[in-house]
Amino acid sequence: MKRDFLKLGDFSLDEHMALFRRTAELKQMRRRRKAVMTLVGRALVLIFEKSSTRTRVSFELAMTQLGGDALTLPVSDSQMARGEPLSDTARVLSRYADAIMVRTFGEERLFEFAKHATVPVVNGLTDQGHPVQVLADLYTMAERFGAERLGELKGRKVAFVGDGLSNMARSWMEAAGVFGVELHLAAPKAFRPSAQQAEDYGGRSGNIKLFDTPEEACRGVDVVTTDVWISMGQDAERELRRQAFGGYCVDERLLSLASPEAFVLHCLPAHRGEEISAAVLEGPRSAVWDEAENRLHVQKALLEKLILDAEKEA
Ligand code: CP
Ligand code: NVA
Repeated sequence: MKRDFLKLGDFSLDEHMALFRRTAELKQMRRRRKAVMTLVGRALVLIFEKSSTRTRVSFELAMTQLGGDALTLPVSDSQMARGEPLSDTARVLSRYADAIMVRTFGEERLFEFAKHATVPVVNGLTDQGHPVQVLADLYTMAERFGAERLGELKGRKVAFVGDGLSNMARSWMEAAGVFGVELHLAAPKAFRPSAQQAEDYGGRSGNIKLFDTPEEACRGVDVVTTDVWISMGQDAERELRRQAFGGYCVDERLLSLASPEAFVLHCLPAHRGEEISAAVLEGPRSAVWDEAENRLHVQKALLEKLILDAEKEA
């Protein structure tokens, strides 16, 4: 049976930890420019129904640096744009490739695709989640807390400030359940998950705390993170969102409330002066460039696991 990676909870904590150990090895190998040829002869197809810089380039190069091939299918040129069902596309592409990454709008499109694909499918972002990004974020945290303690994330406090219903916020809620991080989420009321939604994403861990103000959420935390105020597909709500999120900018004042060693994550692209100030993004406590780099290494480990495990079981 092929396995997909559609959400963080698709892997057990032990599997995530093994993935992080392998990520560290692959990162070292890349640093030393040592070739790793574990996916020779395998191919990844990438489907994007939304824009991308990091996800496209990091997945394509993850695959080619492991000796495999990667191909991005421009959806607008494909028969999908002319109404070919996802189920047909999924079955056909599965005959050509060893894994497929999908970035789309509603998660039901991803689930439909994965249901019909016969090779592993990876969630490259939907309106409801961005698990590969949060995986890289968690790896970046583990790395910063000390390589010898890689994976000791349980109990670490992460403040998420901004759009509490964004795909990033939802995957962070899932991380609270799967990895045991304590998530402090601050969002304007209309963009704050309900207690029930928090439980649906994070399980009954009690690891998600909802706050009225960003100041309360950031007090004493180990990590401060945020996401854009206007996600892809929300352009019509631009003005409404800009108004709603006033006061939810991760700036130096907010960061000064966190632990003295705290650092900042942002999935990028960033909007300086909106969800994050330029001074914080470019400042000494910003881990965003390492975070972006780690997408490459984490996704290599993920592709190896999904593709090679599927072959073992075939
Ligand atoms: N963070 C992220 O997924 O970036 P892209 O939209 O550029 O892929
Ligand atoms: N929430 C953002 C994340 C971009 C990587 C969006 O969906 O546009």
